[in-house]
Amino acid sequence: MVIEEISEVNMARKELLIVTGATGGLGKEISMYFTALAANDKGLYPILCCRNKDRAEELRGCVESLGLLRNDYAIFLTDLSSSSSVDELATRIKSLNLPIRVLVNNAGSMFGSYQTNAEGIEMNMAVNFYAPARLAEILASIVAHKGSIVNVVSLTRKHVDIESDFLKGNPNSYTRLGNYSKSKLALSVFTADMAERYPNIYINGVDPGVMNTKMIKMDKWFDKLADYLFRPFTLKPSQSLEGIQAAYQNTVGVSGYIFTRKKHFLMEKKTANHPLRQLIRATICNSAK
Ligand SMILES: NC(=O)c1ccc[n+]([C@@H]2O[C@H](COP(=O)([O-])OP(=O)(O)OC[C@H]3O[C@@H](n4cnc5c(N)ncnc54)[C@H](OP(=O)(O)O)[C@@H]3O)[C@@H](O)[C@H]2O)c1
Repeated sequence: MVIEEISEVNMARKELLIVTGATGGLGKEISMYFTALAANDKGLYPILCCRNKDRAEELRGCVESLGLLRNDYAIFLTDLSSSSSVDELATRIKSLNLPIRVLVNNAGSMFGSYQTNAEGIEMNMAVNFYAPARLAEILASIVAHKGSIVNVVSLTRKHVDIESDFLKGNPNSYTRLGNYSKSKLALSVFTADMAERYPNIYINGVDPGVMNTKMIKMDKWFDKLADYLFRPFTLKPSQSLEGIQAAYQNTVGVSGYIFTRKKHFLMEKKTANHPLRQLIRATICNSAK
């Protein structure tokens, strides 16, 4: 369920900057970037979608320390693991009657064991594919001309494949990284598909690289070892923000691309033209309005 916290929207604000997973490692960087943009441009209205109320309150403090007032931005609290929550969030956003300048589907999770949501969707698929794809599809009609949808994907999409039962997955072959990667592959395929279907807006993926965030903590004994051996070589979320900024600014005007910190390129054909592309589209489009 979406619990909303919103004052009356400042009527000077005309376009929405939306991010999900706003309290996470990369999400907080994106939130502060949007806050800075809105502090300089009174036409922009950030919507920061969070799951956890306490973390959202902390984020609120940071946002307001940059000078935004309560009616200059909104925090929406929602758990994106169920499609009804995603639909409620989309409906609430649409009810503001403002066009979207950018939607960044950043929220993501990795699950240690096979779990499903109330609709029987495997949880990595629910949070990392179904929710962002559905949100994007429902909100595409209110994205401003040449506005953007940015889906945070992962390089790991290239190392896995999915089958026609991809939404439910198979508990017997479940692995934490494998199933996470499958969900990012499905989201990437959907990103390429949407980019073709919506020529008036930009729809791209961002691969943020390996970042030192909560996501790569395994809650296992070897975390301490990883702290010494592996984590020093990972990116700070503030570095990965550069890929998000490049995709948002999109000075090259491309769609169906992958942005990283340093470059952008057309999504590889193997992913964009995946044999399950039609099924993936139907999974989202047949139920999203
Ligand atoms: N870290 C990496 O190396 C890496 C690499 C490639 C791609 N990515 C992708 O980058 C994005 C950001 O990840 P991160 O590294 O910043 O991870 P993070 O610090 O764990 O942040 C993830 C964010 O997603 C939110 N979230 C998770 N499940 C949710 C749910 N069911 N409903 C609503 N929000 C939910 C979390 O909320 P809470 O704050 O309440 O926990 C958190 O704000 C993700 O899409 C991730 O898959 C990360």
